[in-house]
Amino acid sequence: MNARRRTAILISGRGSNMRSLIEAARAPDFPAEIALVASNRPEAPGLAIAKQAGIATAAVDHKIYAGREEFEASLQKLLDIHRIELICLAGFMRMFTAGFVERWSGRMINIHPALLPAYRGLNTHERALADRVKIHGCTVHFVVPGMDEGPIIAQAAVPVHADDNAETLAARVLEQEHVLYPQALRIVASGEYSVDGNRVRSKLITAPSPSGPE
Ligand code: GRF
Repeated sequence: MNARRRTAILISGRGSNMRSLIEAARAPDFPAEIALVASNRPEAPGLAIAKQAGIATAAVDHKIYAGREEFEASLQKLLDIHRIELICLAGFMRMFTAGFVERWSGRMINIHPALLPAYRGLNTHERALADRVKIHGCTVHFVVPGMDEGPIIAQAAVPVHADDNAETLAARVLEQEHVLYPQALRIVASGEYSVDGNRVRSKLITAPSPSGPE
């Protein structure tokens, strides 16, 4: 088997997606190894979870840097030290400069709690409920300079129930996020995909959504 791709997970908060990636990467045949978890918020609860799982952790507090470039230079140094090849953003709440994004082009992915291109940005569940949509979900995509844009790797859909509120809907989506993100990382780390415009094609896409495998 080829060497597992050294992967960093960047978080800002509780880290439930991070945890699902760490668990998936424990399987010996998983093509990525989680080599680092870093947070821009030193108090992020996810850092303690990662540490307990025996993973190298670091806080790069964006507040102590003069600006975005300085923050990113420090983060890049950390990624270099850990010989990171892939980045998973998992609830990471900072926007990167175009320069950083370009540097990691094709090697940085993000999970978004909506069926992109619908509901880019924040408060996706509230906005989906306000629009009375019947299907909602989550998306893993490559990161490009535009917010929540970039080739779609995998998506999963969930029904919206008549009595849902933002919390119940978020919980239903999150359950799917935890299944979807490891699947998407497997695809990217294995290299068994091609990018066709805004979509990623792979034999490995088996999202638990009504669309089914490709
Ligand atoms: C998830 O809903 C993810 O889609 C979004 O931020 C949330 C992070 O949750 N980007 P967690 O920290 O992974 O629990």
